[in-house]
Amino acid sequence: MAIKIDIQKTQKSRIDSVDFDNLPFGHVFSDHMFECEFKDGKWQSAVIKEYAPISLSPAAKIFHYGQSIFEGMKAYKDADGKTMLFRPLDNCKRLNKSAERLVIPEIPEDIFMEGLKTLLEIDSDWIPTKEGSSLYIRPFMFASGEGFHASPADEYKLIICTAPSGAYFAGEVKVLIEEKYARAANGGVGFAKAGGNYAAQFYPTQLAIDKGYQQVIWTDDNTHQFIEEAGAMNIFVRINDTLITSPTSDRILDGITRKSILQIAADTGIETEVRKISVGEVVEAAKTGKLKEMFGAGTAAVISPIAGFGFKDEDFDLPELENPFASQLKKRITDIQTNKAEDPYGWRVFV
Ligand code: PLP
Ligand code: COI
Repeated sequence: MAIKIDIQKTQKSRIDSVDFDNLPFGHVFSDHMFECEFKDGKWQSAVIKEYAPISLSPAAKIFHYGQSIFEGMKAYKDADGKTMLFRPLDNCKRLNKSAERLVIPEIPEDIFMEGLKTLLEIDSDWIPTKEGSSLYIRPFMFASGEGFHASPADEYKLIICTAPSGAYFAGEVKVLIEEKYARAANGGVGFAKAGGNYAAQFYPTQLAIDKGYQQVIWTDDNTHQFIEEAGAMNIFVRINDTLITSPTSDRILDGITRKSILQIAADTGIETEVRKISVGEVVEAAKTGKLKEMFGAGTAAVISPIAGFGFKDEDFDLPELENPFASQLKKRITDIQTNKAEDPYGWRVFV
């Protein structure tokens, strides 16, 4: 690999204080983190050290101009104790796509993969084995270089932290179809995992939470007539027996779970369509009983069924089905992720 990793292991692991049977999502952090610095025009040597606060200049451009991107991945352990990642190179490639849009230097794939794998080897005991739990991995890159000039920084950091985690959603998920706010616009950064995209979602999401929903269904910024994403997930709608998802665009994140579901569905005989989905069509299908399922898909949330949605002061409940597509697809994808089933796609990567 292009650079050397300095390994500084902690003298005192915190693992004994963790209740692995009752893990929240993303709130308990493993012992170590990987950190690599971009300085003087190149990625410098990297370190794996104790998970701890970092020190930054108050003038670091991350604070002022939001040059910050991240990824979300998971590591799993199989019955033999082997550690696996799911399509990790896709995350690295998407991180670099986000980096290009935010004028952050791209991270070479070998540094990313080597740093990640070494970190997972060191913190291997932190990977939960309980069904439904996993080690959530959060790689992120941000502008650490200082200056108030509104231009890209000259220094950056890549940090990878991990958090043994349980389910993202605690209970039932009801969503509100958004008619006023937008999470992304044409020509903007919606396709990138830029931190600011999420900050901009908090206010409209809070308004939805205040009305009793858990998430917002984002619609297109121009007409609000087409549904695009569900919170921090891609959205799937089942009308009769066809599973439909919106095409990716520069407003929509090209989700790795989304594309895996499309592949699995095609191979298991579920009819799929990738096309624009109008709000009118979804409401009409709900009224006529043709709307069978809606679910969100993403690394953190895996496949999260939507129990109902609100639109223009009216609530629509989804039916409870015997063997919904959401359960079938979730089983198939998690079986592949955790090595309980063959992986004909080569998605699993052993560490
Ligand atoms: N859409 C948004 C806005 C997200 O933040 C995420 C999460 O990563 C997804 C979709 C799902 O993407 P993936 O399946 O790659 O995690
Ligand atoms: C993920 O699914 O990994 C994400 O990045 C979503 C996040 C906002 C929790």
